[in-house]
Amino acid sequence: MFPENMTEQRKKLMATLAVVVNGLSDLPSILPAASALAIRHVSYGARREHYPVVGAALLWTLEQGLGDAWTPEVASAWTAAYGTLSGTMMAEAYGRPSQAAE
Ligand code: HEM
Repeated sequence: MFPENMTEQRKKLMATLAVVVNGLSDLPSILPAASALAIRHVSYGARREHYPVVGAALLWTLEQGLGDAWTPEVASAWTAAYGTLSGTMMAEAYGRPSQAAE
């Protein structure tokens, strides 16, 4: 799914995550952008089940990179931030799970 050269991809992901981290105190302000991002991801081939996999990889990477700075508090903040963003993106792109089951 991804281009061979991942340099730009890394920049885009981190830039988006920076927006999320900065927007955490006012989450509604970033949700419209998350909705548009989620809808673009459908055309990239992203499926609902990919989101937890990407989240696990992201948290693992942060843990490796941050070392001792990866405290339980930091881990729980990142888990919550990814959970909120990915939950919004999945709901916008694929509907809420209850809707999907109907
Ligand atoms: C919260 C989670 C995610 C964030 C913040 C995120 C962010 C981004 C951003 C900013 C882009 C650049 C293009 C654009 O703005 O439309 C992008 C592209 C892309 N993302 Fe994600 N993404 C997420 C989850 C996923 C997942 C779960 C997949 C599934 C494997 C995925 C696959 C892709 C692909 C294939 C591209 C296009 C690559 C290319 O052709 O250049 N992303 N993503």
